[in-house]
Amino acid sequence: MFGVSALATVSVEEISSMIDTPKMFQFYFHKDRGLNDSCLERAKAANFDVMALTVDTITGGNRERDLRTGFTSPPKLTLASLYSFATKPMWGINYLTKGKFELPHLQDFVKEGTDVNSSIGNYFSTMLDQSMNWKDAENLCSKWGGHFALKGIMSVEDAKRAVDIGCTGIMVSNHGGRQLDGSRAPFDQLAEIVDAVGDKLDVICEGGIHRGTHMLKALSLGAKACSGGRLYLYALAAGGQAGVERALEKYKAELVRDMKLMGCTKISDLNRSNLRFRK
Ligand SMILES: Cc1cc2nc3c(=O)[nH]c(=O)nc-3n(C[C@H](O)[C@H](O)[C@H](O)COP(=O)(O)O)c2cc1C
Repeated sequence: MFGVSALATVSVEEISSMIDTPKMFQFYFHKDRGLNDSCLERAKAANFDVMALTVDTITGGNRERDLRTGFTSPPKLTLASLYSFATKPMWGINYLTKGKFELPHLQDFVKEGTDVNSSIGNYFSTMLDQSMNWKDAENLCSKWGGHFALKGIMSVEDAKRAVDIGCTGIMVSNHGGRQLDGSRAPFDQLAEIVDAVGDKLDVICEGGIHRGTHMLKALSLGAKACSGGRLYLYALAAGGQAGVERALEKYKAELVRDMKLMGCTKISDLNRSNLRFRK
C-alpha cells in the first residue's frame, strides 16, 4: 500500500489518477480547521482507502542536522546551500525544469513551506494544533467513516484507546527516531501491543525496516504489516524511480527466499517460534 503525506508535493487527485492500488493519506491535525476539512474531503473524493492521523509530532523533534545545514522548505539560499547546488548540478537543473515547488494540500491555507521558508520542526511547532486530544481524534475517525489509523502509537494504553475511539489500525512507530530522542524501537514495543489489541485492529510495525528479514521478524511477532519511510527514500535519492523499483524487488526476493529457507509457504505460517530474545 502506498501512503502520501499531507505535506506531499503531489496532490491526492494526481496520485489517484495514476494508480488504482490501495492508498493511504497521512494527515496532520492543523490549527486551521478549514485546512483539515479540505484534506479529508479531497482524500475521500480521490478514493483514498485509509486515513492515518500522525500523533507523534505535536511539536518538532530537535533535528540537529537540520539546524546545522539550515534545511528549510522551500530551500533557503545560503552559502552552504549554494555550494551544495554548485557541486550537484542535477539539483539546479531539476529545480529549473521540473515545475514550481508546491505543497498542494496546504497552499490555499498556509504560506509556510511554499512561499515562506520554514524548517520542518518549526512547521510542526507553529502550524499543528498542540491541543489535539482523544476527542479530536475520535471526531476525525467518525468524520472519515472508513479505515482509520493512528500513526505513532508506542504504548499499550494508547493502543487500547485507539480501539475505543473506533480506529481500525495503528502504526507502531516512533517517526523513524526523528521525534522523541531515546524512545524505544517500535519493534521492541510490538509484542505487548499485539497481545493487547492485535485481535481488534491491524497493528503495523514501522521504522528501521531495511531488510526483508526485518519484515519477517515483525510479522513473526504478530504485526499485520510493516511500513517505512527511508526503506524506499534512500533508493529514491540514489536511483530515482528505477532505484525504488530495484529496492522493492530486493525486499520481495528476500522475503520469498528467506521464507523458503524457514520452511514457510505463507505469511500466516510466521509465528513467534521463529524468534529468540536475549535474556
Ligand atoms: C524525509 C522524510 C519525510 C517524512 N515525512 C513524513 C510526513 O510528512 N508525515 C509523517 O507522518 N511521517 C513522515 N515521516 C516519517 C515516516 O512516515 C516514518 O514514520 C519513518 O520514516 C519510519 O522510519 P524509517 O524511515 O526508519 O522507515 C518522514 C520521514 C522521512 C525520512
